[in-house]
Amino acid sequence: MSEPILRTEKLTKTFGGLIATDNLTLSLPSGRLQAIIGPNGAGKTTLFNLISGLLKADSGRVYFRERDITGLRPHEISRLGIKRTMQIKSVFNQLSVTENLWITRQSAQRFLHPFRSAMNDRETRERVDQILEEIGMTALAKRIAGTLSYGDVAMLEIGMALISDPRLLLLDEPICGMSPAETERAVAKIRELARKVDIIIIEHDMEVVFGLAEDITVLAQGAILATGSPQDISNNEQVREAYLGRPEDEDYLEEAAHA
Ligand SMILES: Nc1ncnc2c1ncn2[C@@H]1O[C@H](COP(=O)(O)OP(=O)(O)OP(=O)(O)O)[C@@H](O)[C@H]1O
Ligand SMILES: [Mg+2]
Repeated sequence: MSEPILRTEKLTKTFGGLIATDNLTLSLPSGRLQAIIGPNGAGKTTLFNLISGLLKADSGRVYFRERDITGLRPHEISRLGIKRTMQIKSVFNQLSVTENLWITRQSAQRFLHPFRSAMNDRETRERVDQILEEIGMTALAKRIAGTLSYGDVAMLEIGMALISDPRLLLLDEPICGMSPAETERAVAKIRELARKVDIIIIEHDMEVVFGLAEDITVLAQGAILATGSPQDISNNEQVREAYLGRPEDEDYLEEAAHA
């Protein structure tokens, strides 16, 4: 098997008395679209926060391509090539789509080339155009981000994560709030992106998860409940139990198991 893109070792994070991440040891191989699922409060976002340095673990370690990144600060981790999108979407609402991408690229580049003039940067312009194309938003380049549909904001956010050439992209519920048509478009885009960059996606929409993921990790109460192929997961009795009381998801697991 290839070297893991991401590995955690006995990772623990508590908030007061609550254990959000419970002695979590996992290893995700590169080159396969990874999904992390689990009921609300399972610790999915917390795991992304620990990986990206937004939160400090109480104990345990995080490795990115076998490099120990535990305790590094968010901008250091970002510079190593781990980019993420947030569960609560965060773009600059008053700026255009292009400006959002431009600023994100420039702020990442400033670390690398502090004396380069920002406004004449042809390389940046080309990169922005390329990303617009990749996320399917060329026609919306001049639109003010605050006026975009939910799905387009989510795609823009993915573009902002992509523009500084990530090696690993963490997507936290990118589909949440999208219409069925937007969902379909986003899923196709994410599948396309996964050919170029390693992706770990947190997602509640079972249909999306089972349609996209090659490997699924199920978290419950901060620990791994199950890992495996979509088929394994849909057949897993404990997973079904974890989703009891959510009829839609239960039905989906049932269907997937017999697909
Ligand atoms: N900053 C924080 N302070 C206190 N408690 C927190 C904090 N962040 C998360 N928690 C708690 O940790 C647990 C895990 O939260 P987390 O956001 O990681 O869950 P999740 O799996 O992403 O859930 P969801 O599917 O609802 O997004 C929850 O009980 C949550 O309330
Ligand atoms: Mg979450």
